[in-house]
Amino acid sequence: MTEELVAAIDQGTTSSRCIVFNRSGEPVSVAQREHRQIFPRPGWVEHDAEEIWHNVEQVVGEALDATGAGPDRLAAVGITNQRETTVVWDRATGRPVANAIVWQDTRTGPLLADLAAARGEQWFRDRTGLPLATYFAGPKLRWLLENVDGLRARGERGEVLFGTMDSWLIWKLTGRHVTDVTNASRTLLMDLRTLDWDPELLAALDIPAAMLPEIRSSAEVYGTAGGPLAGVPVASALGDQQAALFGQTCFHPGEGKCTYGTGSFLLLNTGATPVASRHGLLTTVGYRIGAEPATYALEGAIAVTGSLVQWLRDNLGLISSAGEVEELARSVDDNGGCYIVPAFSGLFAPHWRSDARGVIAGLTGYITRGHLARAVLEASAWQTREVVDAMNADSDVALRRLRVDGGMTGNELLMQFLADVLDVPVVRPGVRETTCLGAAYAAGLAVGFWPDLATLRDQWREDARWEPAMDPAHRDRELHQWRKAVRRTLDWVE
Ligand code: G3P
Repeated sequence: MTEELVAAIDQGTTSSRCIVFNRSGEPVSVAQREHRQIFPRPGWVEHDAEEIWHNVEQVVGEALDATGAGPDRLAAVGITNQRETTVVWDRATGRPVANAIVWQDTRTGPLLADLAAARGEQWFRDRTGLPLATYFAGPKLRWLLENVDGLRARGERGEVLFGTMDSWLIWKLTGRHVTDVTNASRTLLMDLRTLDWDPELLAALDIPAAMLPEIRSSAEVYGTAGGPLAGVPVASALGDQQAALFGQTCFHPGEGKCTYGTGSFLLLNTGATPVASRHGLLTTVGYRIGAEPATYALEGAIAVTGSLVQWLRDNLGLISSAGEVEELARSVDDNGGCYIVPAFSGLFAPHWRSDARGVIAGLTGYITRGHLARAVLEASAWQTREVVDAMNADSDVALRRLRVDGGMTGNELLMQFLADVLDVPVVRPGVRETTCLGAAYAAGLAVGFWPDLATLRDQWREDARWEPAMDPAHRDRELHQWRKAVRRTLDWVE
């Protein structure tokens, strides 16, 4: 039987998906399952890694069944994942020792303050490209080592293993303990230039080396899968945002994309050398194909965009499905003077204030559900504007158009507002599942299913474009109001 398909597993913040692609990079089947969001205390967010693994097994089986194909028709499977979320499991039993600590969780705030006082933030930034923020994995691992009984001793003996979700899934699929450079670049433990664990960083965070995975490239065969994927090479791993960069075929320096999921993440390819940000962006690994040099990226990470729509649905009950937010927002002409800054996990780029907390500003008796829905959507666009401004300032070259992808890009009102506030065209590709597509592309390249990057690039197609149409004076006024609301999230903690 010829292998004419490649599968990708996307283990995301709210759900796990499997998509099977054909040689033209078109999805032929999709399966998806949500998992529980566990909020034990304000600011804490956890996942059950065992539940996630069972969901992954299910969606892989369902996606394969839907194609009518067995695993023998798959040339490879690629993994992409929510980044930074931290799992520790028992090497012998394969069971997690505690719930996974999710990237949005802010419990490591006090630890980061100690690290900043001991070493200074710049010391970490120079090595890792990252600010000291609760977002990253290393401090979450340190928290587990200090708070799960006996874990440190077991870690030192290598009896328990650390991984982000890529490692966890590759371990479950193949029994190998590896991660890729993009995921490792989000731990605060990897040197961005050597692409290896840094002994000084491990010492600063007090992390035993024995529990860390081996760092590999993003596109190579890590092992052969069992279970529903029996015999299929597991041939790529990329953090989901880097996978979307790859799926959007942003292979040249200066090309970038923004993905609208739970949060939103704007990544700009900066080529073979890491570029230090002076304006609150992250320096991160974009991808590394086999033995080729790594490609780096600048990243504007926004913690809360799509999850604000979910909050409107689940916590306020103002809509019954996420898709309804557009209709509700269209029921009014404007935001009525209301702004929502969703600093649920503090503020990420470009502010990096883990202590900020969200605000709804400008409330009057005039404000309706419609205005709130509008402010929810506008928050995604204004937060993007802040990271685009930082990106333009860092790169000295203004962004000329923005490639977008992810679930929220189906929202036409938001896409038009985004083009209006950025004052550049917003472009959406034919295949919106660029995160899975990027993981599939990397896996397919690793096994020779696709010959080269040029072939992948030829497969990219524009599907829709929104041109800016807002009056500049109006845009400036609204931006001023947004900035005032952002300042309130910082005032709140003072
Ligand atoms: O860094 C967090 C990011 O990887 C999460 O992405 O799409 O699961 O919200 P998503």
